[in-house]
Amino acid sequence: MIGVFDSGVGGLTILRALRAKLPEHDFCYLGDNARAPYGSRDADDIYRCTRDGVDWLFGQGAQIVILACNTASANALRRLQKEYLPKAYPNRRVLGILVPTVEAISGIAWHDKHSKNGDEGHVLVFGTPAMVSSGAYTAEIRKRSPNVHVIEHPCPTLVPLIERGAHHEEITAAVRACVDAAERAAQGHWPPSAVLLGCTHYPLIVDDFIAALPKGLVIYDQGTIAADALAKYLDHHKDIDEKCKKDGVLRALTTGDATELTTRASTFYGMPLVFDALYLPKYQDS
Ligand code: DGL
Repeated sequence: MIGVFDSGVGGLTILRALRAKLPEHDFCYLGDNARAPYGSRDADDIYRCTRDGVDWLFGQGAQIVILACNTASANALRRLQKEYLPKAYPNRRVLGILVPTVEAISGIAWHDKHSKNGDEGHVLVFGTPAMVSSGAYTAEIRKRSPNVHVIEHPCPTLVPLIERGAHHEEITAAVRACVDAAERAAQGHWPPSAVLLGCTHYPLIVDDFIAALPKGLVIYDQGTIAADALAKYLDHHKDIDEKCKKDGVLRALTTGDATELTTRASTFYGMPLVFDALYLPKYQDS
């Protein structure tokens, strides 16, 4: 089975694309809604929360876990791969969505350390405060595309509004405020040539971003990027793929209110989805 993890409902935007690309694979989705948002936590806290979720998914038999969360990918993935995985599950894998997104934006493979392109333009990345303060997108895009100007802009209000199911007008106004603030911060670098909604919750309100942003911008689609990257990964790592069950089964769990999430699921997932409740004790010792 393939595990998919997010702090809350945002990862469902990635799950939808993963299942469309790999319909025969079994998936297990875990949203840590009880501890969302991750974007206002520090890197240590994000690491421990993410490790708990990943550890639970591996305990359920996941062969590979996708962090469908930019905040966790930027703040926890490398540490999970270095400190946790070799000791706990040396034959399993954790992948994030930052790597394939940087590859898609730059057109350069992650491990191709020496290639650079001559691309120009302004890429605007919206994200959570913890994702933006990691500076990961700026650093990784600029390594490969030194002439591209990257602006990362934090939107601290959006995930809490989405998670609590705020009224549409409130969300529209909050998105407009984020875009206006990004424009003020961008100074001479406006309008951007392309936009990354660098938080998996934001595609749920993409129409509000489209309405608030200048017309005709490229908006990268992280669902498609993540799905293409996972399909390619499994194609190149048959040892992992062969261990993944393929009955097309999907399980969804939340550390939050399963009944409430089941009621609201189709707004996030595009179709009905039943959530079961999961209690994750705060931080395991190991
Ligand atoms: N969906 C997550 C992301 O992509 C984070 C949301 C949060 O702040 O919990 O960054």
